[in-house]
Amino acid sequence: MPTPAVASQLKVLFTREQIANRVTAMADEISRDFAGESILFVGVLKGASIFLGDLARQVSVDATFDFISVASYGNRTSSSGEVRMNKDVDSSLAGRNVIIVEDILDTGLTMGFLRKLFLAHSPRVLKIAALLDKACRRIEPVKADYVGFVIPDEFVVGYGMDYGERYRNLPDICVLPPELQ
Ligand code: PRP
Repeated sequence: MPTPAVASQLKVLFTREQIANRVTAMADEISRDFAGESILFVGVLKGASIFLGDLARQVSVDATFDFISVASYGNRTSSSGEVRMNKDVDSSLAGRNVIIVEDILDTGLTMGFLRKLFLAHSPRVLKIAALLDKACRRIEPVKADYVGFVIPDEFVVGYGMDYGERYRNLPDICVLPPELQ
């Protein structure tokens, strides 16, 4: 948890109640779309871990989950940004209903990389669920099928999202002001 001095400078963007309501609505939509079928949720470490945990517990269809870890290199404000895999999924994707779960879509470079990688493994269906969408920052034209909130270009932490690995455990999503970055 942040020190009281830092906590007083964090601006809450979405409260835990607002997040819970959106996650439930997203889970309901997914449950309707995949009624009677099975889903494989693939969370992108580490930011998506908390979102995946909440989303997976709200869906009413058969679901399993897996995780993948990637890292971005180079200049993330240009399309030359390079994404590399640190940990692959353990599951086979072939013929499965796969939903990639992300905490945030920013430039789209990570998701563009993952989408190509996953499509090469012939899933039956490939969908993207992103809690936050910083649409104004997009370089790679990727779109999520399930979006929690579209947000402006602010640095957000909490609910899995970090700054220097800290603040992931904040229950609300907060804006980290520039003077704390
Ligand atoms: C964040 C987020 C996405 C990626 C989105 O991960 O979880 O994976 O950045 O950015 P992009 O659309 O510009 O590619 P980060 O690299 O911060 O790692 P983390 O999830 O471990 O915090």
